Amino acid sequence: MSKKTYFECEHCGYKSRKWLGRCPDCGTWNSFVEVKEQSNKQRIRGLKGTGVKPLPITEISSAQYARIDTGSEEFNRVLGGGFVPGSLTLLGGEPGIGKSTLMLQICNNIAKSGEILYFSGEESPSQIKLRAERIKALNTNILLSGEVVLENIIELVNNVKPLIVVIDSIQTMFSEELSSAPGTVSQIREVTTKLLFEAKNSGIPVLIIGHITKEGAIAGPKTLEHIVDTVLYFEGDRFQSRRLIRSIKNRFGSTNELALFEMTSEGLIPISNPSEFFIGERPEDTTGSSIVSAMEGTRAILVEIQALVSESAFGTPRRMAIGIDPNRLHLLLAIIEKRLDYLISRDDVYLNVAGGLSISEPSTDLGVAVAIVSSFLNKPVLKDAVFIGEIGLSGEIRSVAAINKRLAEACSLGFKKVFIPDTKESIEKKFKEKLELIHCRNLKQVFDLVF
Ligand SMILES: Nc1ncnc2c1ncn2[C@@H]1O[C@H](COP(=O)(O)OP(=O)(O)OP(=O)(O)O)[C@@H](O)[C@H]1O
Ligand SMILES: [Mg+2]
Ligand SMILES: [Zn+2]
Repeated sequence: MSKKTYFECEHCGYKSRKWLGRCPDCGTWNSFVEVKEQSNKQRIRGLKGTGVKPLPITEISSAQYARIDTGSEEFNRVLGGGFVPGSLTLLGGEPGIGKSTLMLQICNNIAKSGEILYFSGEESPSQIKLRAERIKALNTNILLSGEVVLENIIELVNNVKPLIVVIDSIQTMFSEELSSAPGTVSQIREVTTKLLFEAKNSGIPVLIIGHITKEGAIAGPKTLEHIVDTVLYFEGDRFQSRRLIRSIKNRFGSTNELALFEMTSEGLIPISNPSEFFIGERPEDTTGSSIVSAMEGTRAILVEIQALVSESAFGTPRRMAIGIDPNRLHLLLAIIEKRLDYLISRDDVYLNVAGGLSISEPSTDLGVAVAIVSSFLNKPVLKDAVFIGEIGLSGEIRSVAAINKRLAEACSLGFKKVFIPDTKESIEKKFKEKLELIHCRNLKQVFDLVF
């Protein structure tokens, strides 16, 4: 065996000097391929501006930071205000969720100020044109190319010097320098790394679309997420029209931000009032339903929590939570049982966040507890009320952040009563006037008032 090659698992990127039948790391059979070793000199031609000579940080130029407006308020928000020049962004999502549609719309917006290069290895240019006609994104500045060889892509980018480059998708592109097939770990890593250098050297932002594996990760090694500057995930229910984009890594902005869209025949349209969207279908006077306020980045969104408590037909009751961490549900059930003396442990408990949003914020605890108890007691929850507060183990209601933003949202949607914890943050006067604010210290106090 020549010293210049090694073997690599196509599935997880495990490296070995010898060929192996089964990967010791991920257990996949027959996944090893021979990879030519490249010298590092060949691999990294170096980033422009990353000289080896140390410089005082104050002397390094910080120019080049004017972001490119994507023309979509929602998309700008997850990016942290638009594309940063020279940045590499990865947009991952399940098949058919709308990645190509969204990128075409964004391209159309940016194309008003200059040329865009869109490389598609998945669809023929005429297919893309059909979509562009449907979503009204026909612009002479959008240049389509079916090129899939990385070296040619880079040459084209250097010749055209577009405003942004879109790669649809990373799994179809390959570098001629490697012998492995497109979509394999080594190719994906190589192509991404080279695109990163291209982006940094030319200052042109590059957006790559990536497919998601069955397990829900962006296909390719985890290292892909380390290479790029920003990782965005496109989520949504394929049976519903709602789509959301979350950023899970962002070198230029907050990762809490969320973009909300609705998929229509004319493409993705922004959901301008998310709370209205999420609680719009709430039935009146039902049991087991409460409204909570969840912070998604800088926005407060009102969401409906639904709970169903029913007698269990089996020895071990079922507990199921959709959109909320099941551990959190178990914890809250234990607190309710211990502090309120409700015997829920023998019942099945199902919990759902209406609209398919998943929330991880503990400030929704109070609303979850209210929904559960409402279903358990078979009594509807007070109308027009919003519940805000984290619940501690001894049943105490703990303070939450950004209380004024949450109250503003409750106010604008016409809610009258808000259950809130005692907060350090001072509450704005207008909310004190418009809303009935019910300060509560512990669970017991809340339940005496609600039911
Ligand atoms: N006429 C239409 N009306 C409404 N929605 C449509 C229409 N045509 C397509 N769609 C929506 O667009 C989606 C496909 O979008 P798109 O091709 O952008 O997804 P993608 O994420 O790029 O998929 P892939 O992984 O196959 O590349 C469909 O799943 C469907 O929801
Ligand atoms: Mg696509
Ligand atoms: Zn492996």
